[in-house]
Amino acid sequence: MNSAEIRESFLSYFESKGGKRLPSSSLIPDDPSLLLTTAGMVQFKPVFLGVKDLGFTRATTVQKCVRTTDIDIIGTTGRHHSFFEMLGNFSFGDYFKSEACAWAQEYSVDVLGLDPDRIWYSIYEDDDESEVIWRDEVGVPADRIVRMGAKDNFWSAGPTGPCGPCSELYYDQGPELGCDSPDCAPGCDCDRYLEYWNLVFMQYNRDEDGVLTPLPKQNIDTGMGLERIAAILQGVESNFETDVLRTLMGKAEELTGVSYGSGEKSDISLRIVADHARAVTFMIADGILPSNEGRGYVLRRLLRRAVRHGRLLGRTEPFLPAMIDLVIEQMGDAYPETVEHHDLISRIVDAEEQRFGTTLRQGLVFLEEEVATLLREGKTEFDGVKAFTMHDTYGFPFELTTEILAEKNLTVDSAAFTREMEAQRDRARAAVKDESWNTYGGAFSDTLSSDGETEFVGYESDVSDATVVAIIRDGEQKVSLAEGETAQIVLSRTPFYGEQGGQVGDTGTIASSGGAVFRVDDAVIPLAGLVAHKGVLEAGSLSVGESITASIDVLRRERIRRNHTATHLLHWALRLVLGEHVKQSGSHVAPDRLRFDFTHFEAPTSEQLAKVERMVNAKIMERHPVRAYETSLSSAREGGVTALFGEKYGEFVRVLEIGNFSKELCGGTHVSRSTEIGFLKITSEGSVGANTRRMEAVTSFDALEWVEREEREIDETAAVLKVARLDISERVSSLVARVKELESAAQATADSLSETSVIEILEHVEDVGYPILVARVPDMKATGLRTISDNFRARMKGGAVVLAAVDRESGKPILLAAGGDEAVAAGFNAGTLIKTMAPHIGGGGGGRPTMAQAGGSNPEGIDEALKAARSLLGLT
Ligand code: SER
Repeated sequence: MNSAEIRESFLSYFESKGGKRLPSSSLIPDDPSLLLTTAGMVQFKPVFLGVKDLGFTRATTVQKCVRTTDIDIIGTTGRHHSFFEMLGNFSFGDYFKSEACAWAQEYSVDVLGLDPDRIWYSIYEDDDESEVIWRDEVGVPADRIVRMGAKDNFWSAGPTGPCGPCSELYYDQGPELGCDSPDCAPGCDCDRYLEYWNLVFMQYNRDEDGVLTPLPKQNIDTGMGLERIAAILQGVESNFETDVLRTLMGKAEELTGVSYGSGEKSDISLRIVADHARAVTFMIADGILPSNEGRGYVLRRLLRRAVRHGRLLGRTEPFLPAMIDLVIEQMGDAYPETVEHHDLISRIVDAEEQRFGTTLRQGLVFLEEEVATLLREGKTEFDGVKAFTMHDTYGFPFELTTEILAEKNLTVDSAAFTREMEAQRDRARAAVKDESWNTYGGAFSDTLSSDGETEFVGYESDVSDATVVAIIRDGEQKVSLAEGETAQIVLSRTPFYGEQGGQVGDTGTIASSGGAVFRVDDAVIPLAGLVAHKGVLEAGSLSVGESITASIDVLRRERIRRNHTATHLLHWALRLVLGEHVKQSGSHVAPDRLRFDFTHFEAPTSEQLAKVERMVNAKIMERHPVRAYETSLSSAREGGVTALFGEKYGEFVRVLEIGNFSKELCGGTHVSRSTEIGFLKITSEGSVGANTRRMEAVTSFDALEWVEREEREIDETAAVLKVARLDISERVSSLVARVKELESAAQATADSLSETSVIEILEHVEDVGYPILVARVPDMKATGLRTISDNFRARMKGGAVVLAAVDRESGKPILLAAGGDEAVAAGFNAGTLIKTMAPHIGGGGGGRPTMAQAGGSNPEGIDEALKAARSLLGLT
């Protein structure tokens, strides 16, 4: 059976057992505790935990998975992969151990036709029940049931979450593949016993302290590796020799010219290229882009490893896009998302491969020199500080440095590398540390612990009564503030939005009935829960405990609100126009403008930008309601909310909804109807690093002002051009054409010879039955020679010319001979002349009797060429 047949056979078998056939879920799990989808059960985690009910209790899937914990092993064995497919059957509080075991046996033996005498069964060390089931219900020989500890037979998807004891099926591939150790048995590291199916009896939930609590129901989660079962069924020793992977390795062989089996090292590289090509294809198809953190970094690492192993195989030209094409050809039927995003995947891979090529070239040169020095000095450990420099200066991955050194049996001082990394992190942290953290950290945490959090009322109100909780000046708490003094004030309650989530802080005033006026220039959040009002006391005096009225600058806030809601609209439109991979990676929402950073791998076209702008403006005008509400993180996710990757959210989150099309987690302040934004104008768009773009835009009055400014510019241009506004482009095109014309005329003048030199040269006209001029003229553009020849001949009745010059631009010699009919009748032949002359200037050429030209490479030969012409013409 090939892979496609195995998939279908598995799904239909478990469908026949009442399982609902479900599609594979995305490699990006809907679960903040996991970076990538690593198993079939990931999409069912909430169901196992009892917080979600699917409305059915049996399911079966073929799940795409990525695991990179074993990345260093991949390629060195026949059974480890970064990307693989897991065949699974699941029970949510429905069937349990008996059915799971019986069906695993029936499917293995009766459907797939595995030899029952070769199957072994492992069970968790104290799981007597499973032993009874295997032996007495399924009827397998007792001596083929082995007990193993938690490492092998207790399964969990991560440090926390649903888990349970498991039972695994092993296939005995025969002693030929064994290690000959007397202890060799299932679980041994050698290739003899291949674990192909894991039946997990999902019974517990593990919390952060490692405590197991029984789940509300007993569940089944099984996982069979498609590549492993394919290897068994296809009778090959390694997963890499099964249909799909073997074809991919074939492509890698073709691209590198290295055949599989020709060496241990090159075999590893071929396997890595084939394996990683699949992971890369599927990760990008699910919306992951290469970056320096999180899953984007996993992707980048796989991509770069694949490229490097391609190079180890001798391939220096880009090759990954060709691998990707074949992955999609092989697997696109089962995973249409790869076909849909084919173009995107190829472009990203291509760009990343090129970028890494440069990095590699620079880094390898550096590393080679360093290694040579190291060996000369007789050392074996590479300096960790240098490895850091390579990482920092060349973007050369540390893992790669380690790998390359290991290939030469050298090590690297990784402790020193880590120290440097930490030091750099500290430096970066210190550099960005907000001054309030630095100087006032102590005072703020004291305030927070003695007085609690600031109550934020700014969603509903612009003005609020409150009391002064703390006055912090130069890092210390003060009881009062005198006129002219600056400080940060903490209030019991505030309408001021402290800068957060890209939205700038509010400005405004804090005033007391006693005449104190504190001007708030900025509001910040020095510690979660506290708002600090930064500013200066302009009048009166203010003390802790005093009652005040805090009022924000309402008009400014209004502008901020418009811009904030506009960023959500932009995010929505960008995802529709450019694709689902677009994610917000930062933003700055100020009163007068907004900035929106997002992930995308190339410059959007002007049509795409225009479309985004039009879509946003349509949504503005459609007058959609904008609503905010608090809910639990899990129900927000179920409602399809867009959460920002990498952000940590508490259990309760605020969802901001525009109409029924945009839903984002957001704590900011927003308009209540989209119409309030007025309209939006994108003012710029550009790249700010690999795969990150930055867009700037203005809304409402600022957009109006922007348009007015552009209009003024157009008016002024129209006035200068003396045309109507709508005729500007036409007039400018004709002006540009005219300028070009004038430029080439000027060039022609510059190329022609001055009148004096023409007269001077004409003095050399000789007579061979017709007037002939053989001359070298000053350097000029090749095209100019022709004009000059016409010029001369116009002044020499019935004459002919043989001219030579050097092309001013290329420095190469040029020849031209031309004569009228009269001269030709009298024996002149331009073609013959040029043919005779051309070899002297290292060139070739020819033409008709009336006109011939030649170019060459050796300007030194011009005199000889002219001499040859003279002798042919019978001149001395
Ligand atoms: N979740 C288990 C595994 O990944 C069985 O599917 O092995």
